[in-house]
Amino acid sequence: MNTIRALQLAAYGGPETIRTSSVDAPVPEAGQVLVRVHAAGINGLDWKVREGYVRDVFPLQLPTTLGIELAGVVEAVGPGVTRLRQGDRVMGSLGRLGAYADLVAVDEANLSLVPQSLGFVEAAALPVASVAAWQSLHFAGPLRAGQRVLIQGAAGGLGGFAVQFAHQAGAEVFATALEDHRNYVRGLGADHVIAYDQEQFEDRASDIDLVLDYVGGEVLSRSWSVLADDGVIVSTASPAIASNTPTGRRGLWFVNTPDATRLHAIAEDVAAGRLQSKVAAVVRFDDLPAAIERNRTQPQLGKVVVDFSI
Ligand SMILES: NC(=O)c1ccc[n+]([C@@H]2O[C@H](COP(=O)([O-])OP(=O)(O)OC[C@H]3O[C@@H](n4cnc5c(N)ncnc54)[C@H](OP(=O)(O)O)[C@@H]3O)[C@@H](O)[C@H]2O)c1
Repeated sequence: MNTIRALQLAAYGGPETIRTSSVDAPVPEAGQVLVRVHAAGINGLDWKVREGYVRDVFPLQLPTTLGIELAGVVEAVGPGVTRLRQGDRVMGSLGRLGAYADLVAVDEANLSLVPQSLGFVEAAALPVASVAAWQSLHFAGPLRAGQRVLIQGAAGGLGGFAVQFAHQAGAEVFATALEDHRNYVRGLGADHVIAYDQEQFEDRASDIDLVLDYVGGEVLSRSWSVLADDGVIVSTASPAIASNTPTGRRGLWFVNTPDATRLHAIAEDVAAGRLQSKVAAVVRFDDLPAAIERNRTQPQLGKVVVDFSI
């Protein structure tokens, strides 16, 4: 049988628990296509899975292949596939683990065509961050022009997209980031950038209709004080919000789901220059364990992507 490279988690723990293995190539099942992976996006979920932080939410049988989003070329199609063909350039989030491998069997429904002018690295940076930002922004209900939105973690993968989506929807956007990232976040459309290393967001933001919490922990617990009486906090970072929401307040835990139609629309906007997508760094497959650890210890401005061709 044909074997391929896969980055696998052997046991819960530190970076040393991840290794490159040789595994059998997958065979696409009904409704799936086989994707030759050219690039994959790195996410905080990689090290959270590695450390075992989410083992209750995602029970896994180890060893397992890490990675949740990819871009590449359709190499073969399984039974019942109607939309995609061999040779199509595709991108998507899997809705499960397994993207860090040379060949991956992916549900056709989770894949979008990559616009012609986007490369695989640019495409692999989009599926999780952009769609999660869109979905979390609209998760609590329709966003209306003039509403006050506070985005905690605005310089990150999700935050960069959420600032742009909220601005385009006509919201008044408050955004927290390091002072060094102020100009970047302002350039995305934030009306008020709050440098969290120099000032307290509580001194600059109040009466907020929607807080998007992309940071969690203490940042989330402090955010209740700036919320309007009928406001809501949506967190992608702290599942505990579901049990810790103060009485009488509204707090929602959000989990993104693949949405190939939304992803395609976002990618078209990126290709046309209507949306900015920032790739912070491109790494080699062999550098993945270190890059996943850097995501934990020194997050970068934008997305880090692994390019399988370098
Ligand atoms: N539930 C879901 O479906 C889902 C989906 C995707 C991601 N997530 C989670 O959502 C979170 C955000 O993901 P991401 O990919 O955007 O992560 P990311 O790219 O690492 O961005 C997080 C950003 O938070 C900023 N930050 C750190 N401390 C801060 C503070 N005290 N105040 C304000 N900003 C601060 C950092 O910006 P500076 O550089 O300016 O410090 C960093 O860029 C992560 O916890 C991730 O695991 C959840």
